[in-house]
Amino acid sequence: MKLYSLCFLLFAAAFRVATLNTLAGEPTHGMVASVNPLATQAGVAVLKSGGNAIDAAVAVGLTLGVVDTHNSGIGGGCFLLIHLANGANMCIDGREMAPAAATRDMFIREGKGDTQLSQTGPLASGVPGEIAAFDFAVKHYGKKKLRDLLLPAADLAEKGFPVPANYAKLLFSVAEDLRKFPSSTAVFFHDGRPVAAGENLAQPDLAGTYRAIAERGADWFYRGPFAAALDAWMKNHGGILTSNDFAQYHIELRQPIATLYRGCEVVSFPPPSSGGVHVLEMLNILEHFDLKNLDEATRMNVLAEAMKLAFADRAYWLGDPDFVKVPRGLISKAYAADLAKQIHPAHATPVASHGLPPDWQTDLFKKHTTHFSVADDQGNWVACTATINTSFGSKVVIPGTGVTMNNQMDDFSIQAGVPNHFGLIGAEANSVAPGKRPLSSMSPTLVFRNGQPIISLGAAGGPKIISAVLQELVGMLDLGLSPSQAVGAVRIHQQWAPDTLYVEKKLSATLKQALIDRGHKLEELPAVAVSQIVARSPDGKSFTGAADPRAGGSAGGW
Ligand code: GLY
Repeated sequence: MKLYSLCFLLFAAAFRVATLNTLAGEPTHGMVASVNPLATQAGVAVLKSGGNAIDAAVAVGLTLGVVDTHNSGIGGGCFLLIHLANGANMCIDGREMAPAAATRDMFIREGKGDTQLSQTGPLASGVPGEIAAFDFAVKHYGKKKLRDLLLPAADLAEKGFPVPANYAKLLFSVAEDLRKFPSSTAVFFHDGRPVAAGENLAQPDLAGTYRAIAERGADWFYRGPFAAALDAWMKNHGGILTSNDFAQYHIELRQPIATLYRGCEVVSFPPPSSGGVHVLEMLNILEHFDLKNLDEATRMNVLAEAMKLAFADRAYWLGDPDFVKVPRGLISKAYAADLAKQIHPAHATPVASHGLPPDWQTDLFKKHTTHFSVADDQGNWVACTATINTSFGSKVVIPGTGVTMNNQMDDFSIQAGVPNHFGLIGAEANSVAPGKRPLSSMSPTLVFRNGQPIISLGAAGGPKIISAVLQELVGMLDLGLSPSQAVGAVRIHQQWAPDTLYVEKKLSATLKQALIDRGHKLEELPAVAVSQIVARSPDGKSFTGAADPRAGGSAGGW
């Protein structure tokens, strides 16, 4: 049987239920899935008005920057993985870059890495890349103008939107940090307290910023008034980001990475995403196990062990590929075969350190972020993960602009052994350096059958992104789950250090006990990541989509 036929059968099985329930009016022209219904609607409106998936994805991203400001925005960055109707795959790296004055030890105080500095305030931000990536994507691959996508989002920012309960809760949780910056409370507080659920949040300054970029292009942001306002604020508040750093910012076009898994080609984002590398590395390990026929506890044990091995590699090998050589052998089949031998299906095994990929001798050397997926009937597909890092980023809004700056500097390894916000530790490969991009876990991924795209997925949740994407791929490609079943399935997460198996609370007591019996130290979490998926129906005639039930998103099409 041809590889792709096998994949087709698995995929067809995955959608059997969905196909039987096919409704008249099932979307055939395009599909959008995002974490916010207003953003999904904005994407669908663009598709309906003649835009393609790239235009729609940018409209979704810009709208999320208004209604989901705690997760992403033009003060942050993104990875855009695009499949064009002509068959080309490309990666637009809009990750933040460290300022020219950044130094390796800039967050060390009295000998110790200070994560307060890397997470909050003026030193926490890198140069944002989202608007540069969106501008490039629309100019080169869209049918609309960036201006057409910015203006509706500006109108929404001006008018405001009722604050959802989860937004209000997150805002409340960071209120004390936001209070340090009057320009931030001016946006997110009413009458001296954080905006409450159900209240209207209008952001006239952000509307002005979007309109100014619509009129004068991305240069207004990188080489004009925004960069000047930021420079002035940073100088007055002990920051090191300058207008010159903004002028130097550039996106990078990178080659996607890929592997074959169960007969499907899985294509993902290369470094500085660590997510793509480790999703592929783990799939390569997992193909040595008959996951479908394992009992659930054994399957979870095998998944957790694969995660542990991959995250041990992450901590050592991964960093910005423009600064360090990330071994390509991490995604080689031979390396995965060696790692798979270290996994005992019946119990947890300690992993002392990272592995040594075959080319190493020559080559050595809490809720945030957002993911959205879009597809159109021309054959264009987008998987985009965007972030300002942790909720409300650095907590700094640049006065008069409405732009919340990222705290992506915390994604560097600020000192060996000092965990970042996500408990991730890193090594020299991910140390701070001027102009360097911090390592990311964002893993926008596309799956192909017979060379045709069938799934676009990705997630939010720091390192848990990687585990969520992996488990959804296993769910759909091994276990025959539909996208909504795959998104809704209970998840686990293992990131090597700490040697803890995080499990969602709703995992059954029997499975929890079975994992403890296999030697795992369990910690319960309310949720592991938030994910969105868009997929083709098995007959190729329509689209289906799923937004994570852990957040209040939506999938829509026409
Ligand atoms: N800031 C989270 C990530 O990029 O992994």
